[in-house]
Amino acid sequence: MSEASTPSTGPSTGPSTGPAPRVLSGIQPTADSFHLGNYLGALRQWVALQDTHQAFYCVVDLHAITVEHDPELLRRRTRVAAAQLLAMGVDPERSALFVQSHVPEHAELAWVLGCLTGFGEAGRMTQFKDKSAKQGTGGTTVGLFTYPVLQAADILLYSPEPGPGERTFHVPVGEDQRQHLELTRTLAQRFNHRFGDTFVAPEAFIPAGAAKITDLQEPTAKMSKSASSPQGIIDVLEEPGPMRKKIMRAVTDTGTEVRYDEENKAGVTNLLRIFSALEGTPIADLEARYGDGGYGTFKKELAAVVLDTFEPIRERTAKLLADEERLDRVLAHGAERAGAVARRTMDVVRDRVGFVGRGH
Ligand code: TYM
Repeated sequence: MSEASTPSTGPSTGPSTGPAPRVLSGIQPTADSFHLGNYLGALRQWVALQDTHQAFYCVVDLHAITVEHDPELLRRRTRVAAAQLLAMGVDPERSALFVQSHVPEHAELAWVLGCLTGFGEAGRMTQFKDKSAKQGTGGTTVGLFTYPVLQAADILLYSPEPGPGERTFHVPVGEDQRQHLELTRTLAQRFNHRFGDTFVAPEAFIPAGAAKITDLQEPTAKMSKSASSPQGIIDVLEEPGPMRKKIMRAVTDTGTEVRYDEENKAGVTNLLRIFSALEGTPIADLEARYGDGGYGTFKKELAAVVLDTFEPIRERTAKLLADEERLDRVLAHGAERAGAVARRTMDVVRDRVGFVGRGH
């Protein structure tokens, strides 16, 4: 698995002959805004990887209905998600930016892969265990159980064709997706073994310093749209005033020293990671800069860096949302490009699995 250090370097793409390596990733439209963890763990890498990869980026609305949802809210959040991605710098001319449900092959391949997935294998997914525990008895759906198989389909539809020479296929995600990526690799290999070489096993591309951004109020837990309290989470689209307040009130530790120490200073360590990732400054330099100066100045300057990053994104997102028709056209264009690749993959899959062709 690749470990990224900075978003600008990207994974090694090998010699520059042949087509650009592919990259695929997805995000759920399950909140009114993405958060700082999404941004640092994944989305910043999405933008950077466009320079070196043929990119497919997907707002995964099929995943969003695995828990109870409100249809109008989902429609709204899907557009808000797409607008934020564009505002962050996903370029729809270079990358296929699309909505998962616009490409029906995702659900079709998920069925085929589901028939290759063991019941116990799916039951071992820790995200399923966590999420189903939150649904309470009777609330967990079959959709939630098979969610990681759908994720594997999202990825493998865009696999480059295996063949001679190096074939790279990257999936930029945060640490919490590692197990799903392992399952995807297993399913790719299993399919290839049974039906012939079809998929390249993808590699997770996980940023070294920002793989798990934690909750500002509970610094040992992941920052999460479903689990964090409003005070624990920094939303990309948040107004500057509340954003600054949350950072100033972030739980730090007793003492005054700004020092990286995961065990004893989880709060300060999280803030140092965020600062370092956003400003591109090594943690050691930040420790030297703020050292014994107390937490106040450190937090104030961190707040300024966070605000500088997100304010332009918030403004661009609002502009993009003001023209819904244009936004929908961008997504339709992305779905066409993604669909062309997905259809080719499914033609091969149907044939390999033994389905009779439609005769044209
Ligand atoms: P989702 O929508 O929960 O999160 C989107 C991305 O944000 C990352 N992330 C974090 N990174 C660091 N620190 C955090 N606190 C943090 N919280 C979230 C996630 O790792 C993810 O990369 N199952 C996926 C969506 C998905 C997908 C895919 C991803 C569906 N199909 C295909 C990649 C490829 C999910 O729920 O991500």
